[in-house]
Amino acid sequence: MQISVIRFVAFCLALACVGAESSIEQPYRTAYHFQPPKNWMNDPNGPMFYKGVYHLFYQYNPYGPLWGNITWAHSVSYDLVNWLHLPHALSPTDPFDIKGCFSGSTTILSDGKPAILYTGVYANDSQVQNLALPANLTDPFLTEWVKSPLNPLIIPIDGIDPKNFRDPSTAWQGPDGIWRVIVGGHQNGQGKAILYQSKDFVNWIRSTNPLRSSAKTGMFECPDFYPVSINGNYGVDTSSQDKLTKHVLKASFNGNDYYILGSYTPQTDNFSAESDFLDGSFDFRYDYGKFYASKTFYDSSKKRRISWGWIAEMDGDANALEKGWSGLQSIPRSILLSKTGKQLIQWPIKEIETLRAENVSIQEKQLKGGSVLEVLGVPASQADVEVAFDLTNLKKAEFMVPDGVDPRALGSQQTASFRGMVGPFGLLVLASQGLTEQTAVFVRIFKICCAHV
Ligand SMILES: *[C@@H]1O[C@H](CO)[C@@H](O)[C@H](O)[C@H]1NC(C)=O
Ligand SMILES: *[C@@H]1O[C@H](CO)[C@@H](O)[C@H](O)[C@H]1NC(C)=O
Ligand SMILES: *[C@@H]1O[C@H](CO)[C@@H](O)[C@H](O)[C@H]1NC(C)=O
Ligand SMILES: *[C@@H]1O[C@H](CO)[C@@H](O)[C@H](O)[C@H]1NC(C)=O
Ligand SMILES: *[C@@H]1O[C@H](CO)[C@@H](O)[C@H](O)[C@H]1NC(C)=O
Repeated sequence: MQISVIRFVAFCLALACVGAESSIEQPYRTAYHFQPPKNWMNDPNGPMFYKGVYHLFYQYNPYGPLWGNITWAHSVSYDLVNWLHLPHALSPTDPFDIKGCFSGSTTILSDGKPAILYTGVYANDSQVQNLALPANLTDPFLTEWVKSPLNPLIIPIDGIDPKNFRDPSTAWQGPDGIWRVIVGGHQNGQGKAILYQSKDFVNWIRSTNPLRSSAKTGMFECPDFYPVSINGNYGVDTSSQDKLTKHVLKASFNGNDYYILGSYTPQTDNFSAESDFLDGSFDFRYDYGKFYASKTFYDSSKKRRISWGWIAEMDGDANALEKGWSGLQSIPRSILLSKTGKQLIQWPIKEIETLRAENVSIQEKQLKGGSVLEVLGVPASQADVEVAFDLTNLKKAEFMVPDGVDPRALGSQQTASFRGMVGPFGLLVLASQGLTEQTAVFVRIFKICCAHV
């Protein structure tokens, strides 16, 4: 098998080329991802674009690098890359959120004003949904937020588990002008996206049926519900009435962000899904690695839908205490429906490329079976890589019946050291001298076969 690298470019980042890479005290801080200067961070909250400014709120502990004292921290940016850290937007100061200002979302209301819906936790651990509004709409950064005197607006009744009732989504408006929002919950042994309706964004009435429920999933954390354009290259506003769309329902459980696609009828609030969560051996997730509690928003300036997800670290409390921080946000990704209409596709937003600094480039190099081409000149710990491979002969590729195969299971059976007919080939990252340590990012080629089995 002949493989050649047609084009390989690895960029080091402005920061990582010189600064972060040589920082002995903080070798693991990233030069690409969003991180606060210190302390604990988890879920992204209420991302939005408002009057020329991107906002990101996030779950934050102002007092240390472990989870606790959960507050809405707030940062703003003009480009989704460079961020300014503002005072906290919401802190646990009232009876209805004294044990934490948990996750939630922003919605741009019909008059163009933004609103936050978030979960507050009472001293007895009961979770309720609250509203907060900007104190000063002429402040472009919306620095100060005021909690509604009517809080809590939505409380857990009728068998909704009060300790598992949280994370209101961005609301959307039906053709009748009424707002809808979903809240993650657990009721009668089922995980649910519980649906509420409101005319004024203050008085919320629970709908008879949840938008979706499941006996298999446990509670739906951080539910997200939004339209994606069929055959379109643009994102769609959450309240869009465009008929040429499908809807995505995302829920976080079992440590992953799962989604299902379907068609939504706002007149009846019926979401008719094409598949179910945890349906058979294969299911769709945003990511198969460490990526959780994600949230999307519609970027009206560039007509795209962008997703952020929390990347929890796995290095334990002792390391977090030593580093003084824990957690990062994913690179923002734009989300579209694939041309087949059967799944979502994601790509890092273009703006991230502005972080690229010096590059190392390799062109037209042949790779023989078993060989490794070492790339020098970029830091191994952090690099942005583009690579294209050319394969001369695919005749020998093995056959695969797509409907009968779970690519993830296959990937873990046939690891990077399992020799196939065409592949594996790819990149060894974070590799040590002599390759005693390495992480393989690899590809294996199959031919799609024949009839359904
Ligand atoms: C943070 O929360 C813990 C309980 O989780 C509490 O004991 C502590 O007093 C809080 N710290 C501050 C500064 O509020
Ligand atoms: C928790 O406290 C709130 C506020 O006092 C109260 O309304 C609610 O009923 C309590 N929940 C439970 C489960 O006791
Ligand atoms: C509101 O924000 C504007 C712009 O930052 C500022 O000039 C004004 O003083 C603020 N108003 C109040 C009442 O704080
Ligand atoms: C929702 O739509 C599907 C497909 O059209 C239909 O089978 C189902 O009965 C509807 N459910 C409700 C609650 O209207
Ligand atoms: C990489 O750097 C070289 C100069 O060293 C430059 O000619 C080339 O355009 C760069 N490639 C990219 C993709 O930026």
